Amino acid sequence: MIDRHESICGTVYLVGAGPGAVDLLTVRALKLLEAAEIVFHDALVPREILTLSSRAELVSVGKRCGRHTTAQRFINKRLVDAACRHRVVVRLKGGDPLLFGRAQEEIAALEAAGIRYEVVPGVTAAFAAAASIGTSLSQRGGVRSVALATPRVGSDENASDWARGFAAADAGAIYMGIGEAPAIAAALLAKGKPPALPVAVVENASLPHERIVYTSLARLASITASDFSGPTLLLIGPQFTKRAAAQQSSDAASVVDAKTARRA
Ligand SMILES: C[S@@+](CC[C@H](N)C(=O)[O-])C[C@H]1O[C@@H](n2cnc3c(N)ncnc32)[C@H](O)[C@@H]1O
Repeated sequence: MIDRHESICGTVYLVGAGPGAVDLLTVRALKLLEAAEIVFHDALVPREILTLSSRAELVSVGKRCGRHTTAQRFINKRLVDAACRHRVVVRLKGGDPLLFGRAQEEIAALEAAGIRYEVVPGVTAAFAAAASIGTSLSQRGGVRSVALATPRVGSDENASDWARGFAAADAGAIYMGIGEAPAIAAALLAKGKPPALPVAVVENASLPHERIVYTSLARLASITASDFSGPTLLLIGPQFTKRAAAQQSSDAASVVDAKTARRA
């Protein structure tokens, strides 16, 4: 049976905007941005990408660093309402929409209202960061499992034992963790990860102002969120040893640009 809404409403596309570089958008994402009548976008999506939607009304529903500018329930309702007024509604999320993006709540609201939707994957930040470093997230002979984790929990959620799953993997990426670097280091050391394990802190992956700081688990505690202004990801694993060693001639964590890091 076709729901009443499905027959008269448009489609909501949950689209991944990638890590920030315009040319890392998928072709499908680009076509949808060009066709969109209205775009609801996150705070991290750069203006350069938004301007590709020249015909669309742009609505910022950004949530950054725990500041919930627009409550999720309100976003869900706005998507449903917009689908009843427009044929092509784009919900644009940083990276991939299905990773740490609360897409499931939006999908649930759309399904409950009988609104058609499609998900368009994007390049997640961890893949862009690994590409910038020129180091594979998995590695033959040693790194066969890779965890994607976040220590961040919402105010309405139970405490999370994210470190258990992360420590069980050979390597991984931590999203939304820069503000909790000391707690992350302590949690992973307590789970048995070695103090010398390299950590690559990648800020603004794929963007011109990208920055990479190499450190170790033992020294991660000295990193503070105020050292970074853009979105920042932690890549942790033995495969970063060579890159980190090349930049750690002194005890201080080294800051290098992406080109230097690739040559290391
Ligand atoms: C709410 S999560 C969204 C993740 C997104 N869905 C993805 O797949 O990349 C936002 C976090 O992703 C990471 N992030 C997003 N873009 C990034 C970038 N260009 N460079 C480094 N980290 C990034 C940061 O840890 C940031 O706090």
